[in-house]
Amino acid sequence: MAVPESRIERIGILTSGGDCAGLNAALRAVVLRAAQGGVEVVGIKQGTAGLLARPVDAEVLDPAIFTGTLLRRGGTILGTTNRGNPFAYPMADGRLIDRSAELIEGYRSLNLDALIGIGGDGSLAILRRFAQAGGIDFVGIPKTIDNDIGHTEVSIGYATAVSVATDGLDHLQATAASHSRVMVLEVMGRDAGHIALNAGIAGGADVILVPEIPYTMDRVAAKIEALKSKGRNFALVVVAEAVKTESGEAVTQSQAGGAMTYGGIGYTIAEGISKATGAETRVTVLGHLQRGGMPTARDRIMASIFGVHAVELVLRGAFDRMVAWSGRSVMDVPLADAIAKCRAVDPQGPMARTARGLGICLGDA
Ligand code: F6P
Repeated sequence: MAVPESRIERIGILTSGGDCAGLNAALRAVVLRAAQGGVEVVGIKQGTAGLLARPVDAEVLDPAIFTGTLLRRGGTILGTTNRGNPFAYPMADGRLIDRSAELIEGYRSLNLDALIGIGGDGSLAILRRFAQAGGIDFVGIPKTIDNDIGHTEVSIGYATAVSVATDGLDHLQATAASHSRVMVLEVMGRDAGHIALNAGIAGGADVILVPEIPYTMDRVAAKIEALKSKGRNFALVVVAEAVKTESGEAVTQSQAGGAMTYGGIGYTIAEGISKATGAETRVTVLGHLQRGGMPTARDRIMASIFGVHAVELVLRGAFDRMVAWSGRSVMDVPLADAIAKCRAVDPQGPMARTARGLGICLGDA
């Protein structure tokens, strides 16, 4: 139930899912814009876990804390989690239980008029379900280095991740050329290849493999051989973590608590290149370096735009929406539409066409 603008006095905010650079900049934008409207912002700690804790783990965010370094700082001062879905919460004995009633009770105890959640597609879907179950007025802000949320061209954290991966290629190029090696850089992105494709183009990769475009090792090897025949003594290969082996298996790592993450396909690709071409290969798995660090200017700008717009939606009483960036403008879309379908790399889209136009091998030709 939308509270009339004049009655919005106190809103909650949480960061949920994997962290990324720019989250603190988004919190800052929300708190500063809310303060202009005389609205108090309560920061909920560790995503939804803060609402399950007793006492509830949350505190009022004083606008004064955002006047210094936080705009520039990676991570999230609120903490976050990408485990522990409250609708299927993992217990020590392996059972999954529904703790949504506790969550709603925790939310109610904070006397909030609305909630803003900063999350990726998975956490925004959970937060929407929670909002609907509790009759909570909710607005979402998209963040994820994977940049795979529907109906927005950009999510907070993506620009920094691409920049970190590009820096990785800048560093690898020099050592690759010095040692006449093929360097394989494995980047994150979950099931989407946006980081790989964009950083590969920016960092001068010779081969880019993404999950959306099927590849063969023969074609990758042929590209490396072609470079060699033209006198090139090194090559740069970027592989997205969700690329499968040629026989179709995902390469994953099991983590504590039964979670699985992608990781390690870079080694399979390097081995294939080495066997097929005789080249000396080395692998760098960039991992969580892509998530931390100082947000780029682009991420700080997007975080600021999204944070301000999210508060304005709350003040207007426009709920169940996600702020988005499209066609050089901030807008908002129904949250249900945004989370309905992940935004994958378009194999015929502008980035793939650009890569092909630069002579980069995408493994399919
Ligand atoms: O969704 C963001 C992301 O960094 C993915 O790119 C990656 O696959 C995953 O999270 C890693 O998750 P975790 O932080 O649990 O290792």
